[in-house]
Amino acid sequence: MTKSPIILVFDSGLGGMTVLREIVAARPEAHFVYVADDAFFPYGHHGEDEIIARVVPLIGELIDRYAPDLIVIACNTASTLVMSHLRAAYKTPFVGTVPAIKPACARSKTRRVSVLGTRGTVQREYTKALIRDFAQGCEVTLVGSPELASLAESALSGNEVSDRDILAELAPCFVGAAENDKSRTDTVVLACTHFPLLLDCFVRLAPWPVDWIDPAPAIARRVSDLLGPSRGDGDASGAEMIFTSNKPHRLSRTLMPFFGGRVPA
Ligand code: DGL
Repeated sequence: MTKSPIILVFDSGLGGMTVLREIVAARPEAHFVYVADDAFFPYGHHGEDEIIARVVPLIGELIDRYAPDLIVIACNTASTLVMSHLRAAYKTPFVGTVPAIKPACARSKTRRVSVLGTRGTVQREYTKALIRDFAQGCEVTLVGSPELASLAESALSGNEVSDRDILAELAPCFVGAAENDKSRTDTVVLACTHFPLLLDCFVRLAPWPVDWIDPAPAIARRVSDLLGPSRGDGDASGAEMIFTSNKPHRLSRTLMPFFGGRVPA
């Protein structure tokens, strides 16, 4: 019997689920370990040095414990900082999640693109370099949202989240006159993995229609390419859910669709 690959997906919280579900669809035979560093959530409120000092050793502990074949850092706030540190420290292959500025700018017709991320992500030198290298003449508006990741987390946990609170964070993405569809923003990059959890609300609340760019399918393709051809005999029961706070989690049912119908233990 061939062993199924072990894929570890890491985020500060539940946002990485939006990346996980695409990877599960692409590699159903894999064994999945999802780690939410909820003890340190939200990463967007921490300084750069703090995040590096937190994530690099924690990933080392997870490698020792789970021996993953591949690790996905399903968090823009961390990936825009830690990837080079992780690759220098560990041999395990890593895939990161960074703002999809290049495809968004390639696609925009009005040449006005907004990047909606955490405050940390939009302040990063990494993000500014992506704009310098790949904006292709587009005007890129950086929107750092302090609260949306927590609102998404709350909504996924079954709580009521107010439209007004979501719209307050979303509104700065919409630049230009609503009546001028030749020059207003037409593309918004979802630069935080939590945000696709609120996509239905975003679409409903947006002052005009835009393309929302979610990099999760591209990340799943990259993971699949790195793993190579499918191997293993399937691991339909293989899904683990770890919270660094060690809190007992009661979300198994809610999270099942993200794990392709498996119950995360
Ligand atoms: N999901 C994370 C991201 O992609 C960040 C949320 C947070 O912890 O602030 O940036």
